[in-house]
This record gives sequence, structure tokens and C-alpha cells, in this order.
Amino acid sequence: AANGAKAGKTRNIIEKMDETGKNCVIFYGSQTGTAEDYASRLAKEGSQRFGLKTMVADLEEYDYDTLDKFPDDKIAFFILATYGEGEPTDNAVEFFQFFTGEDTAFESGATVEDKPLSSLKYVTFGLGNNTYEHYNAMVRKIDEAFTKLGAQRIGDAGEGDDGAGTMEEDFLAWKEPMWVALTQEMGLEERDAVYEPVFSVTEQEDLTPEDASVYLGEPNLNHLESGGKGPYSAHNPFIAPIAESRELFTVKDRNCLHMEIDVSGSGLHYQTGDHIAVWPTNAGIEVDRFLRVFGLEGKRETVIKIKGLDVTAKVPFPTPTTYDAAVRYYMEICSPVSRQFVNTLAAFAPDEKSKTELVRLGNDKDYFHEKISNQCFNIAQALESVTTTPFSTVPFSCLIEGINRVQPRYYSISSSSVVQKDKISITAVVESVRLPGATHVVKGVTTNYLLALKQKQHGDANPDPHGLTYSITGPRNKYDGIHVPVHVRHSNFKLPSDPSKPVIMIGPGTGVAPFRGFVQERAALATRGEKVGTTLLFFGCRNRNEDFLYQDEWKTYQEQLGDSFKLFTAFSREGPKKVYVQHQLRENASLVNDLLQQKANFYVCGDAAHMAREVNTVLGQIIAEQRGISSEKAEDIVKHMRSSGTYQEDVWS
Ligand code: 2AM
Repeated sequence: AANGAKAGKTRNIIEKMDETGKNCVIFYGSQTGTAEDYASRLAKEGSQRFGLKTMVADLEEYDYDTLDKFPDDKIAFFILATYGEGEPTDNAVEFFQFFTGEDTAFESGATVEDKPLSSLKYVTFGLGNNTYEHYNAMVRKIDEAFTKLGAQRIGDAGEGDDGAGTMEEDFLAWKEPMWVALTQEMGLEERDAVYEPVFSVTEQEDLTPEDASVYLGEPNLNHLESGGKGPYSAHNPFIAPIAESRELFTVKDRNCLHMEIDVSGSGLHYQTGDHIAVWPTNAGIEVDRFLRVFGLEGKRETVIKIKGLDVTAKVPFPTPTTYDAAVRYYMEICSPVSRQFVNTLAAFAPDEKSKTELVRLGNDKDYFHEKISNQCFNIAQALESVTTTPFSTVPFSCLIEGINRVQPRYYSISSSSVVQKDKISITAVVESVRLPGATHVVKGVTTNYLLALKQKQHGDANPDPHGLTYSITGPRNKYDGIHVPVHVRHSNFKLPSDPSKPVIMIGPGTGVAPFRGFVQERAALATRGEKVGTTLLFFGCRNRNEDFLYQDEWKTYQEQLGDSFKLFTAFSREGPKKVYVQHQLRENASLVNDLLQQKANFYVCGDAAHMAREVNTVLGQIIAEQRGISSEKAEDIVKHMRSSGTYQEDVWS
């Protein structure tokens, strides 16, 4: 059970809590950082409001086979995100298997019948997305398993819904009654919350940014010391050269980028259908805003050292660093601000008027929605909308606690590893969205970063049409504009191993990305003389002259694959009526059904909320009509296709 244990570091949570004097552990299963953020917020709130001795813990760093010894005067929280098709997040895989698999085996030898968790009191909240079929599967299954093992849940098993966009409010609504139940159970009393920093932040007068020990964007110690050695992973990105970058289309303020990332010599491998993670840098304009709002403009280059004031407080990014580098490379300053964080910062408002306004925003859900969420404001924009006076008294620790570490973003790889094993293609639409009724435009951090890299690489005459400036010429020349930090994440979205099997692919917009890789691969196999089955691709976009991705490439693949490749297009804004991929699918019902009966794999990539659902429905209708069976039966067939892996999705919302 001690796998991964480092010298002097226990994987036994009970020991760890004893050693550090804690009575409350908050475990998280997190993929993109939201669950981790909620865990830290609960830890802070528990200690400040109720005097709990809290610690936050990554599920991956502990073992669970001693949880039957968890003392009943302590409490364990489990904040669990559900990933993809109802799966645990990467860091929760073992935990999930331990409690839901066949072999739940405690170190003490206790068995399921003994109700081994009867002394465990726990609190749980799940983060999910109702546009996916297995909504909040993680929290539901773990809660069920814990209950079966005799554990006692305090409060409700909360569920937050990212699909409906209510995650934050679901969380806030869940936690108040939970705290009431928990304080009763543990006999705690609420006290007046005073801000207590979790970290000490000390300015280092003896260090300058030129000093070799100061982090200026390097993701970890390995990068600082050696320039970044492999093996590369989710914790250690490869700073990859950009071999090629171009715009597939540019229409008004919409562009689509194609990039080729060179991973030769890195030891990074991918397979067609995998994902590439890009580690972004914040836009210069947002870094400047943030530093201005918090009165740190004059201290950009000041070197700071950050330490946990408590042994269990983990500093989320490497130090010493500068204020500028912390904000530019390590802190997710552009994500939409939470109501709770606005509430926390109200205490540091520069004058009474703005304080009153921030308190109102912090407490009035509808008002907050109208003024802040509707605009999708980040923290600095939110404070700027209240007053132009800087919030100079906010402790930097408070900002570190309230803001996540920058997370890598995942893209479906759009090339085939058979065709180009050392070059990974990305196909991404540059996001600049004006929400309905909003006065300002929300810019995607990573896609705009990639666009700026493209412009820099090409020395574009009019760089940065979006008014973003990136300080990408780091002093150590690693973020020079033509390198980008990446790693690879393996997926189950795969072509059949036998290429003679037919495939049906549905990929409107940038949902076509993995299918460009799929078709590229099948065309290459056909050219080599291998037998390749029928390849159907349904692609949709607005207009054939506007955003038809890889329009010319398909012709080449057509020549290589011959009649076995069929591209069906749906142009939604050409005629008086919307034409979508699912309409084209229906038009070709008989062909689709025939191929399914020849064991074709069926793939969908792109928008989860509408497109993928509608495709699922249409497929059921096609099967019912073509086979003359009831719609219930047809839906069962579709479900079975999903569970057996013939129906695969790579969708996002
Ligand atoms: P629209 O924007 O004109 O409505 C790629 O984004 C393509 O997907 C566009 O042509 C877009 O059309 C289309 N699209 C939008 N909603 C869709 C849906 N529910 N199902 C399928 N395609 C959709």
C-alpha cells in the first residue's frame, strides 16, 4: 500500500493528522483545479469560522486502507469531480477503485460485512456536468459505497452542475446547511471570521529577477536547474518548439489556428485520438490590470518568497519568484470571480463606499449575477468595476489562497501518429465571446496565447489585433514566443485496430480535429496498400467560404482513399434554414445503418450540450426506422454501443 511514499512522508492520513494536530481533512479529486479550489476554500472557512484544524489533501497522496481507523471525533471531507464519461479524475482513480471495486481490503483485515467505516464521519460534494450521461457519478458512487461500509455522512451529498452553469451557486447553497449540521455534530461554535493568512509572503531585498534561483515562469525545479529534463508528464511539461503555425480561417473577429508542435527528441509519444495539454501564459493586459488593481505595479520585479504558515499548507507554485511572474505564469487570474472571493476582499476595500458595494455583491446572488457573472468578470475586472482606487492592503497570501494555479488546457490532437509521430497538430478556434447583454468581450486565455505565439512567430505586421501583449521574451529565453509548454494525455478515443472496419465520424466545427487525424491515418494506410474500410465524416460549419476547415486537405484524402471516403457537409448559415450534421446523418440513414450492422465504430466530437445529445437522439431514430423496431429497443442498442465502446465521444462544454 505504500506505493509512491517518499522518505519521511506518510501516506497514512490518520498519522499525518496526528502529527500535525488536525481534526479535519479535506480530500479532493480534481482534474482542472475547481475541486481543489473548493477544498481550499472549505479548509479556510472551516478554520476561520469554526476553529476546525483543517488540512487539504490530494487523494493521490494517501492510502485508504486505514480509513476504518479514522477517529470519530474528526471529520473527513471528499470533494469529488466527475470526469468525462462518469470517470474519476486522474488523481482519484485508485481511491475510486478501492471503494467501488471488488477488492475493498483494509489493512486491519476488516471486511465489508463488518461495516468497517462506522467511525468515519464524512462530508461530500460532487462537481459534475449534467450534459454528460453519468452526471456526478463519482460523488454518487462514493457516497453509496461509504454508506454501505457504515460511514456516517454529515449534511447532504452536494452536487454542483457545470452544465447548467450553476456550479458556484450550488456549492454556496450546499455548504451553509452542511456547516450547521457539522457544527452540531462536532459541538463547534461559529466565531467572528477574521482573515488569517495561510502563507507568509516575504519580499527578498537580496535577490533580483536575474538571480538563478528565482523562478520566472519555469514550471518546476527541474526546469529552473536544468532547463527542463524528461520524462515529461502532467507535472513536468516539455517546452516544445512550434514547427508551424497558420490560420485556417480568419473572419471578422473569429480565427481558427492550426499549429504543429515538434516533440522530437522529447520522449513524448502520442497516439491518434489523444489530447495535448498546453500550459498557457496570461495576457499582458490582464497581468497589468491585476497588478494595478492590487497596487503592485511598482513592485513587479520584486522577488518574493512564499511559505506555508502551517506544515500542511502547500504553496501552489514555485518560489522565490517575482510578483510579475507569479501573476503572469502561475495564477489563474482570468477565471470568472466567485461571489465568495468578492465577499472576502470586501474587508480590504479602499473606502467605505466600495466596501458597501462589495458586501452587497458578496451577499446578493441576483445582484452579483447581474453585475459580475453576466459579464464574466475576473477578479481584477470585478474590483475595477466598483472603484478605480487600488486595493493595496490585500495580503498577497489572500490572493494566492483565492486564485487557482494556472491549469494546462487540453486539445484533441488533429494529426495521426502514424503519419507524423514527432509532430502534434492542434486545431483551435480563438475564443473571443461577448455574452448576451454584456458590454465587454471575454477572451480565452490559451487560444489567445496561441494566437499571439503564431503572430510572434510570423512577425505579423499587425500583431495582437486583440490588444493583448505577452511578455514572452523571458530573461532565460524559454518563453520566446516560438516555444510552448506541453504534455500528452492519453485517451480512449481510438480508431479500430483493424483498419478494414468501417467508421462513422461526426465532427462539426473544431470537433473535426481528431477526425482530421483519423482520416489522415486511414489515407496513409490505404496508400501503403492496406485494406481500409468505409470512412464517413459528417462535418458542419457556417458557410463553405468562411469556416470550412481543411477544405483542400479532404480532397487529397479523397484521392488516397477513393470511394470508400465520404465527406458529408452541413452548412448552417448558407440557406434560409439551419442545416446541421445530425440532419445530414438522417438523410443518410440507410447507409449509416448498413455500416453499423457491419460493426462500424461511431464517433462524436465537439459540443456536448446540444450537438452530441441531438446526434445521439437521431442515431436512435435511424436505428428504429431502419430496423423496424421500437424506439425503446433502438435506444437500448445505442446504450449498448456506448458501453461496448463502438460509440465513442470526445466532447466538451
Ligand atoms: P450555427 O452556429 O450556424 O447555429 C460549427 O460550430 C457548426 O455547428 C456551425 O455550423 C453551427 O451552426 C453548428 N451547430 C450549432 N448548434 C448545433 C447543434 N445543436 N447541432 C449541430 N450543429 C450545431
